Amino acid sequence: MTQSFMRRFVTALALVVGLAFAGDTLAQGTGGGNTQNIVQGQSSGANPTARSVTEEQLFQQLDKLTGRVSIPDGKAAVLQQPQGREYRAYHESTLPWIGGIVILGMLVALAAFYFTKGRIMMEPDEESGRKILRFNTFERFTHWLTATCFIVLAISGLNYIFGKRLLMPLIGPDAFAAWSQWAKFAHNYLSWPFMLGVLFMLVVWIKDNLPDRTDIAWLKAGGGFLSGKHPPARRFNAGQKGIFWSVVLGGIAMSVTGIIMMFPFSYTDIGGMQLSQIIHGTLGVILIAILIAHIYIGSLGMEGAYDAMGSGEVDLAWAKVHHRLWVEEEGAKTASGRQTTARPAPAE
Ligand code: HEM
Repeated sequence: MTQSFMRRFVTALALVVGLAFAGDTLAQGTGGGNTQNIVQGQSSGANPTARSVTEEQLFQQLDKLTGRVSIPDGKAAVLQQPQGREYRAYHESTLPWIGGIVILGMLVALAAFYFTKGRIMMEPDEESGRKILRFNTFERFTHWLTATCFIVLAISGLNYIFGKRLLMPLIGPDAFAAWSQWAKFAHNYLSWPFMLGVLFMLVVWIKDNLPDRTDIAWLKAGGGFLSGKHPPARRFNAGQKGIFWSVVLGGIAMSVTGIIMMFPFSYTDIGGMQLSQIIHGTLGVILIAILIAHIYIGSLGMEGAYDAMGSGEVDLAWAKVHHRLWVEEEGAKTASGRQTTARPAPAE
């Protein structure tokens, strides 16, 4: 009995050892199965099993663990991408912090300026009653097309970053899900007219936004915001040129990264997708902060400024104070008979 038990035990042991050895050999062999682990960035054939490296070492050293798949969806071959953890931490924690700081910081700075300095007002004698055409119909159409789309993109974009944390607790998960779905549609579809608007802006305004010597004087004087004395400027001062280039260059970068995300994995792999999202999110919150300042100065912050984008005409005296060199250039054109921009206001 004891002998027969011993015989059966030894046979079973031999079987187990044999099977284990065969399995190990198969795993190290050249394949036959659906996936074979290979370590990216190292010589092929390495086998990241628990015996050769620890999981922690892999996470520290590797870009990603990929396998080989026979199905058409090649990206399914990525088994693990340790950097995804850093991406997630950026998305879930760092980005909301950056967004909160730049946007709230801008709002606080503008509020401080408003409550200490007040609105930038026109002097009584700046109201000449004569008007000068500042932006024609197509320029105003372009501006409002881009601006409207940007505002919707900004609100729906902020929902991606803050909605879950700030809005969902207030309105509940069901309403938040419905709102988020509409916000996502708006974000995806309005991105196209926004891109068109940025392109139009580039075409119509680039010639007035090339840097020149007047910008240096304007920057040295800090735009005259604190002294109240406006440095001479052509059609756009250095601050406005900064807005223009932020919108154009920032808009192009947002468009490229946005399209990459709209068609996932069509142009890049997982790392490229994450990088696009990081650039899109970070640049997005910075642009929102910059445009909050623009919206403030174009409406509440400066008396007489809004008319330029409202009716398209501004008071001639306002134009002389804020864009003296431009008024002179326009006057020269009128004198040479090429364009009439100034006309008398109707008698009151
Ligand atoms: C309700 C929001 C907005 C208001 C009230 C507003 C107002 C204005 C005004 C009054 C001007 C003309 C300034 C002048 O006479 O020189 C202007 C110009 C401009 N706006 Fe806006 N704007 C708004 C939103 C936007 C947005 C969201 C964008 C871009 C996404 C934008 C981009 C521009 C650009 C590039 C210019 C030309 C450069 C400059 O004057 O700064 N605006 N805006």
